[in-house]
Amino acid sequence: MTRTPLIAGNWKMYLNRAEAVRLAAAVAAASDGVTDREVIIAPAFTALAAVAEAVRGTAVKVAAQNVAWEKEGAFTGEVSPLMLLDAGAEMVIIGHSERRHVLGEDNAMISRRLRAALQHGLLPILCVGETLAEREAGSTFSVVEEQLAQGLVDVTAAQMDSVAIAYEPVWAIGTGKTASNEQAQDVHAFIRAVLSRFYEKTLAERVRILYGGSVKPENVDSLMAQPDIDGVLVGGASLNAKAFARIIHFQ
Ligand code: PGA
Repeated sequence: MTRTPLIAGNWKMYLNRAEAVRLAAAVAAASDGVTDREVIIAPAFTALAAVAEAVRGTAVKVAAQNVAWEKEGAFTGEVSPLMLLDAGAEMVIIGHSERRHVLGEDNAMISRRLRAALQHGLLPILCVGETLAEREAGSTFSVVEEQLAQGLVDVTAAQMDSVAIAYEPVWAIGTGKTASNEQAQDVHAFIRAVLSRFYEKTLAERVRILYGGSVKPENVDSLMAQPDIDGVLVGGASLNAKAFARIIHFQ
């Protein structure tokens, strides 16, 4: 089973348009000729169209950081899947821990967003992960299973082939603390087992499961060497062209 590694940069609420276009060009240059792995960058909404334009025709694809569940309407502050497609996005991050824990999104809302993305042909990256308190209480697996069960409600097997999962332990995001290779691999293997229960084994074997949480040039190689880690979702280090280039070229 070969799953094409997916290297995704989540730029969060950083970079104005000029800065974003400049970094996008550097990422495109670093990805030139790369065919055995996929590279994605997720700028803020305001820079999405400019970045999509800047990487057009290169190996780099563009993702949004969230998506509304309706295609239009009275949803002040939201951005619809059709608008994201129009701006040039092909993928979308859904249920990031900052959306869950800082902005208060729950599993039900996240599942609506995910189904809307699928319905309109945006490929979703569904983020799951436990907080430090949940890990210490021994509930990592139950929390992650619940996030998967609720996040993937009504997602058909055919649709599941378009979904990637990102395991991002909340305690490792932006903290400099990475999960150990074993901690990450354990949860990734668990996620794949859950997916084979929800769907079937061959489908679960095809789904890409990314790790996120303080991924850096120094730890990417050993994380990517784990059998069930199929990519990385990178925050802080993706804002640095040189660091992200090294991550793209993990060995
Ligand atoms: P980090 O963020 O790499 O800065 O820890 C990861 C993420 O939030 O996706």
